[in-house]
Amino acid sequence: MDFLELDSVTKEFPNRSGPPARIMDRVSLSVREGEFMAVLGPSGCGKSTLLQMAAGLLPVTSGEVRIAGRRVTAPPPEAVYVFQQYTRSLLPWRTVRDNVAFAVEHRIGRRRARDAAETQLGQVGLAGFGDHFPWQLSGGMQQRVAIARALAAEPAMLLMDEPFSAVDALTRLDLQALILDIWTQRKLTVMLVTHDVDEAIYLADRIAMLTQHPTGVSRMVEVGLPRPRDPITTREAPRFLELRHDLLDTLLARHV
Ligand SMILES: Nc1ncnc2c1ncn2[C@@H]1O[C@H](COP(=O)(O)OP(=O)(O)OP(=O)(O)O)[C@@H](O)[C@H]1O
Ligand SMILES: [Mg+2]
Repeated sequence: MDFLELDSVTKEFPNRSGPPARIMDRVSLSVREGEFMAVLGPSGCGKSTLLQMAAGLLPVTSGEVRIAGRRVTAPPPEAVYVFQQYTRSLLPWRTVRDNVAFAVEHRIGRRRARDAAETQLGQVGLAGFGDHFPWQLSGGMQQRVAIARALAAEPAMLLMDEPFSAVDALTRLDLQALILDIWTQRKLTVMLVTHDVDEAIYLADRIAMLTQHPTGVSRMVEVGLPRPRDPITTREAPRFLELRHDLLDTLLARHV
């Protein structure tokens, strides 16, 4: 069953000096329930715009977005959006625990939200850091807090916009492993935007490749690598290298 559906979605932004700029033209795309989809494309091609429309944070100009069969017009309860810039999404005056609790305290009250936050922090490897402030943690740890906060709402779907692009390479591998663990344990549906070919192949079941001006889906690629995946051996598998070559070729538009 399709969990997220983008049905002929067009997006225009107003343009001061002329007609509206159509940056996306009739894009149709669906993510199956429980699937891990990566969205890959060059800078400025419309990845964030696509994800924000999927999350109900940005209206579509025409077409329709559906989550769990219902039309999305505002952020739906089933899906949570994880921003690229954790430094901007965490509240610096709140402790780590209260940042995570923030996601649910309006629904379940402050005390229960704090208990829920402790559980989520444990899940992302941050047990014992609840009393710290975000700025006392490393970048990778802050992104873990942002992930814990997303999970606190117990979503069925995570929409992630380049969630690991602001951390160093080793931390990035750690966070990729964390997301794969969480996805497996909670049977989530994931749509993750990245410009990193290796990351897309390593994580995803399918990869949607976007083109530019206006944005469209140029290819939908089935990854077909076995799970569980391993940070070292999966990246050495012949299938991984073949896909990497193929996708880089498309991105660089190099046909030899
Ligand atoms: N609010 C806006 N008003 C006008 N144009 C916008 C707006 N937001 C995005 N755009 C334009 O839409 C296009 C797609 O932007 P978007 O941020 O979705 O790209 P992206 O693929 O996420 O890029 P990056 O990889 O750099 O994050 C760009 O040409 C951008 O200038
Ligand atoms: Mg972006």
